[in-house]
Amino acid sequence: MLVLGIETSCDETAAAVVADIAPFIRSNVVFSQLAEHRPYGGIVPEVAARAHLTHLDPVIERALEEAGVGFDDLDAVAATGGPGLIGGVIVGVTEAKAIALARGLPFIAINHLEGHALSARLVAAVEFPFLLLLVSGGHCQLQIVEGIGRYRRLGTTIDDAAGEAFDKGAKLLGLGYPGGPAIERAAASGQAKHAPLPRPMVGREGCDFSFAGLKTALRLAVEKHGGALSAADQADLAASLQESIVASLADRTRRAIALFRELYPTGKTLVVAGGVAANTALRQRLTDLAARAGLDFVAPPLSLCTDNGAMIAWAGLERLKAGLVDALDFAPRPRWPLDPKAAPARGAGVKA
Ligand code: KG4
Ligand code: ZN
Repeated sequence: MLVLGIETSCDETAAAVVADIAPFIRSNVVFSQLAEHRPYGGIVPEVAARAHLTHLDPVIERALEEAGVGFDDLDAVAATGGPGLIGGVIVGVTEAKAIALARGLPFIAINHLEGHALSARLVAAVEFPFLLLLVSGGHCQLQIVEGIGRYRRLGTTIDDAAGEAFDKGAKLLGLGYPGGPAIERAAASGQAKHAPLPRPMVGREGCDFSFAGLKTALRLAVEKHGGALSAADQADLAASLQESIVASLADRTRRAIALFRELYPTGKTLVVAGGVAANTALRQRLTDLAARAGLDFVAPPLSLCTDNGAMIAWAGLERLKAGLVDALDFAPRPRWPLDPKAAPARGAGVKA
């Protein structure tokens, strides 16, 4: 079986072909719109939507070419149906529906968060249920993944997402956009202990997250320098910010592991996914945490952590095999929680 996956929910225009037998990833083409958004210091939704329109056709063409297949070889077309910047989601969904209609193929709308969640199963034999730390530009959640389309949220952010904390922190430090990789690079030559920052929520009840206070603490620390940060100060603050975010994520995950073990004694895997999962310090901390708890730890390779088409195609393949396809009147969804029974998150961003 071969599935084409299309991802257009944020600032990557991506398409991939994934198969149900190894090698699973037949192609994975990602066009990053970074250059188009950089002059604005962040993502401009209207610019993103227009850029998806320009780039999507050639990106799909390349994905098919690199996989060595044509539309006629496909078994289904999957596209991110939300959550995300709605202009971009509409572009991807409309394209996927058009291909499905023209070629008589099933169309599958993928929850972008489920794409991230199931990416671990694309690279390892991860069985349900598993515990998922999902950390991206707009979401920060701890979920128990019980099965395809079956989620139980243990924690979420009450304000900013982890990726947002990196992005806003980088902006405050003058490190540019996107913030996560810039903070990680700067942190490598800094010392967290030279510029201590609070560790949000550490030691608190529950598994929720909060990063707005950390951002304020960082702003105050930057202001203390009177707007003139030396490269050394910049590096120390970057190291400290990264340490605080990682410590907070690890503390919340430790609590979620305890709950997971209690609720699902047969569960044996901790998975991290989403753009922030590309962070080496976080991966290291979670590796230790899982080892101490006797859980397997799975983190997808960096190229599958940040937004990509392969995770959407894979989620499409998993859904196709389970007989879960969508009608062509599917309406793109700017918001789409994984666990609709959980209370809606306050202040969740638009990136997923
Ligand atoms: O999943 P993703 O590519 O897009 C969304 O769906 O949000 O995640 C993007 C986020 C951005 O906030 C970016 O700064 C963060 O992931 N990120 C990182 C790293 N690479 C990307 N954060 C920390 N360390 C990194 N190495
Ligand atoms: Zn994402």
